Amino acid sequence: MRLTVGAHDVDRDVAAAAGAALRDGRLVAFPTETVYGLGADAWNAAAVRRIFAAKGRPPDNPLIVHLASADALPTVAAAITPLARRLAARFWPGPLTLVLDAAPELPSETTGGLTTVAVRVPDHAVAHAVLAAAGVAVAAPSANRSGRPSPTTAEHVAADLGDRVDLLVDAGPTGVGVESTVVDARGTRPVVFRDGAVTRELLGDACSDVSPAAPSPGSRYRHYAPTCPVEVVAADALAARATALARRGLLPGVVTPHGQRVPDAVEIARFSDVEELARELYGALRRAETAGVDVLLCSAVPEVGVGRAVMDRLRRAATAADVTSTDPTHADEPHARPTTG
Ligand code: TXA
Ligand code: MG
Repeated sequence: MRLTVGAHDVDRDVAAAAGAALRDGRLVAFPTETVYGLGADAWNAAAVRRIFAAKGRPPDNPLIVHLASADALPTVAAAITPLARRLAARFWPGPLTLVLDAAPELPSETTGGLTTVAVRVPDHAVAHAVLAAAGVAVAAPSANRSGRPSPTTAEHVAADLGDRVDLLVDAGPTGVGVESTVVDARGTRPVVFRDGAVTRELLGDACSDVSPAAPSPGSRYRHYAPTCPVEVVAADALAARATALARRGLLPGVVTPHGQRVPDAVEIARFSDVEELARELYGALRRAETAGVDVLLCSAVPEVGVGRAVMDRLRRAATAADVTSTDPTHADEPHARPTTG
């Protein structure tokens, strides 16, 4: 069942229905400020197993636990470090996920068998209402089939998961578009596991010392891949690459900055700044499939601010494409793949 509400409109009946469904062990997809999440009661092992089944997610890839408020942190974390307190005070509610020692009673399904837990308080009125109505911690990965681009609209959730979701709360497109930043907050300085919406620059303002990335369990897996190959290309090289592909009889799509002319490609998305690209990126990857292009050319962006997360996601989407493209120097044709309708 799909219930529609405005992005900032907290419908009490919808929140109550979603909260009751979660307490009942059902799967509820709901919006956050980053992407849509597929939620289940983090304390209900059977419900959490259904998340893995619905997504086709490897069981050793742990989930992020969502709370209505930082006050509930001691229910899921065994030890709250001074660093975690400082980061939570600065960035919650918001797109920062903290990894801490897990409460030992938390089901191993939720933690992916680790002794740590990833936890955040989302900054979205509807997410907050759903979580408050549930009254329990809610484990929620992005609400896509494993390996697919994360969903930034309810339509993306429905396309990937259909009736595997018991209730889908639709509050329109999400605002940020890329996922939360995941940091290890067990030590004295944050270690970035996954770049995301809270930039390294912002983390650096809050803590003098930010350690470079150590990959999260999820980074082992293929990610963000549409059914067509993706290439990341410098903005000023897009036109030449598109022309070269078109000459070989291939139809390129392009995600390009405003003002960049790419005559031989189907325009999939344009952006005026990296925040807009972050917001549009996953939708663009999905649109490239339905547009029937043979390859999607995406403009590279500088790796500063949220550009770091955008380039991380683009590279992963493009890595998946390399599976079919034998020559990463682009001398070879990308192989056409079937599109989904
Ligand atoms: O913005 C977001 O974070 C969205 C919304 C729905 O909150 N959620 C999301 O969840 O992106 P998911 O499951 O798609 O990504 C969670 C990431 C994965 O890379 C996972 O490996 C990592 O967080 N993670 C979860 N628990 C962890 C832990 N204990 N230690 C290290 N990484 C962890
Ligand atoms: Mg995900």
